[in-house]
Amino acid sequence: MKEKILVTGGTGYIGSHTVVELQQAGYEVIIIDNLSNSNADVVDNIEKITGIRPTFIKLDCLDFDGLKAAFEAHKGIKAIIHFAASKAVGESVQKPLLYYRNNLVSLINLLELMPQYGVEGIVFSSSCTVYGQPDELPVTEQAPIKKAESPYGNTKQINEEIVRDTVASGAPINAILLRYFNPIGAHPTALLGELPNGVPQNLIPYLTQTAIGIREKLSVFGDDYNTPDGSCIRDFINVVDLAKAHVVAINRILEKKQEEQVEVFNIGTGRGLSVLELIHAFEASTGVKLNYQIVGRRAGDIEKVWANPDRANKVLGWKAETSIEDTLRSAWNWQLKLRERGIQ
Ligand code: UD1
Repeated sequence: MKEKILVTGGTGYIGSHTVVELQQAGYEVIIIDNLSNSNADVVDNIEKITGIRPTFIKLDCLDFDGLKAAFEAHKGIKAIIHFAASKAVGESVQKPLLYYRNNLVSLINLLELMPQYGVEGIVFSSSCTVYGQPDELPVTEQAPIKKAESPYGNTKQINEEIVRDTVASGAPINAILLRYFNPIGAHPTALLGELPNGVPQNLIPYLTQTAIGIREKLSVFGDDYNTPDGSCIRDFINVVDLAKAHVVAINRILEKKQEEQVEVFNIGTGRGLSVLELIHAFEASTGVKLNYQIVGRRAGDIEKVWANPDRANKVLGWKAETSIEDTLRSAWNWQLKLRERGIQ
């Protein structure tokens, strides 16, 4: 068994897939999650896939004393992957203080405790949202950080700064900031996937819920953008591929291969796909017809963004591998499995 890794938000969508990949790479995993947007049975499903039950602690990362107790109880944690955060863009506009408190204080608590418990490194879940609408595409890590469009986006920018400032102050912390593009899909076993609370805000869960008949129609937000078919363009990255990027980042930190104490990587495919192209790819790869309509633009949407993932490809030796067809089929199989389990 390799080193102990703490995964906050480890029962969430990206977190759970990452726990599986970490375990399959031989790491011992401790999950901390407050279950605010996930379910404890995710731990059972992780065990079904890997044959290993990760340690699970139900805890909010805002609880400094609780975190301290967790580090005391599990001595020898070598690195943290910090997923735990609130992530709904719209909700963040309604409840900015909730977002600033949750997302900033959680990270601050972890950074404060890391040196006390000899935790060497942290991988932070950042987002392409930090670029806003980039001036040049595909966007590289050197692109300027634009003023955030939402409190959610702002927490990602501020958290990147918090990590940089903490490291610059001399803290013995090594960090990798991963800027995710649009994660989609589910585990090929259909035992893990995205399970939004209530009406989904993101494209794929809304799409698969429409395809299975939970929602009547998918609304495509705008067909008058400056793109070939008028709909927005995103870089849709398979969630298992994304999870694997975390394992590589952890290896890099623990093997002390970093060139700088804080490194940043785009995690995307390098390929932009429009919302309409994605819908057609879903229909073609699953054979399921989708009921959709074009409606007006959604406030705050970026017109087009896709990654230049060269740095991750070269420096991390990581590359997105799964085809969009396989990814969309995995999202659909997950939705079918939820129905089978009577969940949705
Ligand atoms: C945004 C953020 C991302 C963040 C995510 C979390 C950017 C560029 N991205 O992703 O960092 O992690 O929110 O929620 O800021 N769409 C429809 N109909 C729907 C839903 C979505 O047409 O019912 C369209 C949107 O207009 C957008 C695309 O699908 O063009 C993707 O939307 P979504 O899945 O919500 O993700 P982003 O807004 O790109």
